[in-house]
Amino acid sequence: MAPFDGTGAFLMMVTLLPAKLLLISLLAHEATIASPAPSSNNNMVANAVLEDPEFTDVIENITVPAGRNVKLACSVKNLGSYKVAWMHFEQSAILTVHNHVITRNPRISVTHDKHDKHKTWFLHITNVQEEDKGRYMCQINTVTAKTQFGYLHVVVPPNIDDSVSSSDVIVREGANVTLRCKATGSPPPAIKWKRDNSSKIAVSRNNSAVVEWEGDVLTLSKVSRHDMGAYLCIAINGVPPSVSKRIKVSVDFPPMISIPHQLVGIPVGYNVTLECVVEAHPTSLNYWTRDNDQMIHDSVKYKTDTVSDSPSYRSVMRLHIADVQHSDYGMYKCIAKNPRGENEGNIRLYSSSPPTTIPPSTTETITTTLASTRVYESPFGLSTMTANHFDKGIRYQSDYNQIDRSEHKSSETKSNRDRSVDDATGASGATTPIVRWTTGFALIVHILLRLHQ
Ligand SMILES: *[C@@H]1O[C@H](CO)[C@@H](O)[C@H](O)[C@H]1NC(C)=O
Ligand SMILES: *[C@@H]1O[C@H](CO)[C@@H](O)[C@H](O)[C@H]1NC(C)=O
Ligand SMILES: *[C@@H]1O[C@H](CO)[C@@H](O)[C@H](O)[C@H]1NC(C)=O
Ligand SMILES: *[C@@H]1O[C@H](CO)[C@@H](O)[C@H](O)[C@H]1NC(C)=O
Ligand SMILES: *[C@@H]1O[C@H](CO)[C@@H](O)[C@H](O)[C@H]1NC(C)=O
Repeated sequence: MAPFDGTGAFLMMVTLLPAKLLLISLLAHEATIASPAPSSNNNMVANAVLEDPEFTDVIENITVPAGRNVKLACSVKNLGSYKVAWMHFEQSAILTVHNHVITRNPRISVTHDKHDKHKTWFLHITNVQEEDKGRYMCQINTVTAKTQFGYLHVVVPPNIDDSVSSSDVIVREGANVTLRCKATGSPPPAIKWKRDNSSKIAVSRNNSAVVEWEGDVLTLSKVSRHDMGAYLCIAINGVPPSVSKRIKVSVDFPPMISIPHQLVGIPVGYNVTLECVVEAHPTSLNYWTRDNDQMIHDSVKYKTDTVSDSPSYRSVMRLHIADVQHSDYGMYKCIAKNPRGENEGNIRLYSSSPPTTIPPSTTETITTTLASTRVYESPFGLSTMTANHFDKGIRYQSDYNQIDRSEHKSSETKSNRDRSVDDATGASGATTPIVRWTTGFALIVHILLRLHQ
């Protein structure tokens, strides 16, 4: 950087900024005339009185977010007819000299506080930009120039550049996915990734799952349906506000069907519900057929529906058959199709014998049976289901007659029965069926007892 020492310094700066030639020359000329030449001292008294100018304070370093206005202060005493100039060191630019603004940057101005005992020269920068950052010099044009520095740090909150960052992606199961996120800001932001649901991220490199991943690039190799969901890339550089971008990863795969109960026994005259659990993405088109491959349509006899489950790619197809007759026994097919493929599952409905006659004295038993039946009618409101119901339900379902026997047995003595209820709802008894449910193999067939008076 050229020193600012009298005319020579000004001329050196002129070579740096030729466009300012005229103005600088004028200022230099003015400075040469105005400043007393310290070497030529024909007046001893004047020389003794004139002290050299000095800085009276350091220039404060400033950190400011882009967009704000700032002022840098340079305090000088005994300036006399010397001049104060502001410069930007890294840009080699003279910004101001005395009261004149030299730079063409319209955001820069200079003021001078005459009444201040420490005569202070303020460099004002409005709407600070990142390019304004750097070392600012305040210089006095004494023979050996006096200079001091202050730093302007401009911070910029992070901003995610969408044009070079990933947007929502759809991939086939088993493929590799690379998500990118680029952010600008000052200081440069760090990028981290999280899943929407705080689920773990299956990072490829390690075969391990992490809650958070750092880096511009997130690679998921051999994605599975479990990797489906929203990923958040978060850019942070310590300057608020942090920003994030949501990138949805959809994993497509052909329908997969699992059937909790492939053999369903039901007596004539009862209602029954057959269920198939379907996993598919995108959502599959589902329907039921009988042996003849004829599609089953809703009617008095049949009602079909599909209930969403969790995770979102899982659903349960249901076929309700009312008032089962001999002609209804046989094979049923649940079929699911999506653009990735199709799949089907078979359920055989067979005739089982109705429950043995309920002894007239066992009113209690009937009440209990009704209670559990009511629960099974809405299998998805499981929060209210107790282990006791569940346990009975499974036996009930797997062998229609056995449940009856077990009901008789448990109603033999009141105390005995109470104990069995307590056992079933105890901590261990209560958790097991719930786990079984969440893995998708819960009670599927609902048998609605028709009670004839
Ligand atoms: C300003 O920062 C520089 C280095 O970044 C340091 O050397 C200097 O002492 C600082 N000045 C003040 C007044 O804090
Ligand atoms: C996915 O990435 C793994 C390495 O991580 C590589 O071995 C495999 O070939 C890639 N698969 C595809 C389909 O690009
Ligand atoms: C979030 O994760 C929990 C388990 O960690 C899961 O039960 C829930 O369904 C998830 N929610 C969404 C919206 O994915
Ligand atoms: C790999 O896993 C180990 C622990 O299982 C962990 O310490 C390490 O940081 C992981 N490396 C990468 C690249 O994720
Ligand atoms: C059987 O299903 C039919 C038709 O959905 C219904 O009207 C009837 O009430 C059901 N019977 C029982 C016992 O739930």
